[in-house]
Amino acid sequence: MSSFKISSFEEYQQVYKKSVEDPEGFWADIADTFRWQKKWDQVLDWNFTEPNVKWFTGGKLNITENCLDRHLEKNGNTVAYIWEPNNPNDQTVKYTYRELYEKVCRFANVLKKHGAKKGDRICIYMPMIPELAIAVLACARIGAIHSVVFGGFSAHSIADRIQDAQASLVITADGGVRGNKEIPLKSVMDDALELCPSVKKVIVYTKIKTPAYMQRGRDYWWDEELATVGADCPAEPMDSEDTLFVLYTSGSTGKPKGVLHTCGGYMVFAQYTFENVFQYSQPEIFFCTADIGWITGHSYIVYGPLLSGATSVMFEGIPTWPDPGRFWDIVQKHRVTTLYTAPTAIRSLMASGLKHVEKKDLSSLTKLGSVGEPINEEAWHWFHDHIGKGNCPIVDTWWQTETGGIMISPIAGITPTKPGYATLPLPGIQPCLIDDKGQEIEGNGVSGNLCIKFPWPGMIRTTYGDHERCRKTYFSTYENMYFTGDGCLRDEDGYYRITGRVDDVINVSGHRIGTAEVENAINMHTGVVESAVVGYPHDIKGQGIYAYVITEKTPSDANLMKQDILMTVSRIIGPIAKPDKIQFVSGLPKTRSGKIMRRILRKVAEGDLANVGDTSTLLDPAIVDEIKAGVIA
Ligand code: WTA
Repeated sequence: MSSFKISSFEEYQQVYKKSVEDPEGFWADIADTFRWQKKWDQVLDWNFTEPNVKWFTGGKLNITENCLDRHLEKNGNTVAYIWEPNNPNDQTVKYTYRELYEKVCRFANVLKKHGAKKGDRICIYMPMIPELAIAVLACARIGAIHSVVFGGFSAHSIADRIQDAQASLVITADGGVRGNKEIPLKSVMDDALELCPSVKKVIVYTKIKTPAYMQRGRDYWWDEELATVGADCPAEPMDSEDTLFVLYTSGSTGKPKGVLHTCGGYMVFAQYTFENVFQYSQPEIFFCTADIGWITGHSYIVYGPLLSGATSVMFEGIPTWPDPGRFWDIVQKHRVTTLYTAPTAIRSLMASGLKHVEKKDLSSLTKLGSVGEPINEEAWHWFHDHIGKGNCPIVDTWWQTETGGIMISPIAGITPTKPGYATLPLPGIQPCLIDDKGQEIEGNGVSGNLCIKFPWPGMIRTTYGDHERCRKTYFSTYENMYFTGDGCLRDEDGYYRITGRVDDVINVSGHRIGTAEVENAINMHTGVVESAVVGYPHDIKGQGIYAYVITEKTPSDANLMKQDILMTVSRIIGPIAKPDKIQFVSGLPKTRSGKIMRRILRKVAEGDLANVGDTSTLLDPAIVDEIKAGVIA
């Protein structure tokens, strides 16, 4: 494997320049380092109006041959995953590339035995165990499209996603453990499946040995099935533009949408960004603390590291159990060199004090990373000083489910960093800032809406089953641009700082949640007439969820009603979407045309009561005083 790893800042600048002057040549050289069953005919074909983006057309490949097979000869005995269990007293499990390869092939045969084939959608709902990665790769091996659903989502959310994708097969586990909580995954899945006639088969991995309902002819045990199939599973030849996976994510309107990524481009982008941003080389130990249920886990626990032949730690549990020293214990135990985590985790561990850090040996660390939300300077410095001991570069990586991989980020140890800044675009990425009139803002020391003006291999191709939604959401706001939904400033040095979403998406602990989604869930609660949800700054979570709720009649027990509403949101979406604050109101600030003035609600939720601005255009300006008077601090 030849490498395109950048080794100096000057080289970065040269490579960046080349990547803009000749994007096709740039990406083709990188793509050449992979194993293709047939080389592509055309590097790029694109327009951002339909949109239609195709990379490496005519090429044939299977991403698992690049993740697994090609490492076997020389590096088969290299450890791919070090799995760290939830409970520190349980056994760590290690899988080499060869073992992983064997497990993936065998499980892929189980999928085939149950009728799964190229193009079928398979929903995966599992805890953070190696079998989750195995399930993902087994799908890719046979060309089935995986749709991983985060283990914290409710039956209702799972059902929405399965129905949207018309999945025919589900892979799950009896349950999972996170901290001191057990999650009965199979039973949640059973509730979801009541609403999902498309699902014909369910494969269940035994993890926590909790009793599970197993329906004859539909449900099968993972382990029993493995014994019935052979070990060999040739990789399905895939077209570069065949779908690799769908991953649902929240937007400003409607239900979550299935962001679709394809085989060739995603592969090239995931590997290039992983290797460069983290400057990975063996025998470093990479630890990404995300869940595979999110894009960060897809690209930097599964595909990026495996494509690079890396050794990764995969962690089942949570940062605060059995105590807030858990991450540091893992770093010490496995001699982690690179820790990639989220600002929300950093802030929560920071809040629990240095006593959990001080006695830990963190000397193996050489690089740190942050993802998912803007990192505030205080958290950046704490991470830098107390975890990195002042000598580990921090890569603040900006990207999205839709971008497939890291877009704007320092290259570890190479790009000079600045707290709170994602710094500079990676080679091949052409960001720009757009003003309210849709004009590109040139120069430095400016801010605007962040767009990308040229395609990159890992970008979203469509939203599953609804191309028009993809066009509208990302390509219609500004002509010939991919619009990210983020606000951004570019400082005097040309460095980018992401300031947060400019649409109705809130970022709670690094998780994207659409305000409309939460409102719909609240409105399903009996006695609720209407609701409006906004984000507000939250010390640990980054943003918290503030809900204004109109009820049919004054609740006799307001507290109980709040608890009930939280329960409803948990049932409809999942615990991550539960509002932090609920304020009962008699009305909402609406314009004469009936539009809710969220700007006002945001100001009140932020506690900035003096600056709610002009309310004269409201249907009922008096409602603002009532809302201000009842604000929950
Ligand atoms: C936000 C996560 C500031 C941003 C990989 C984006 C960030 C959304 C950063 C995507 C960062 C992600 N600095 N904001 N380094 N990284 N974001 O799809 O608002 O879960 O649009 O992908 O997270 O969230 P998603």
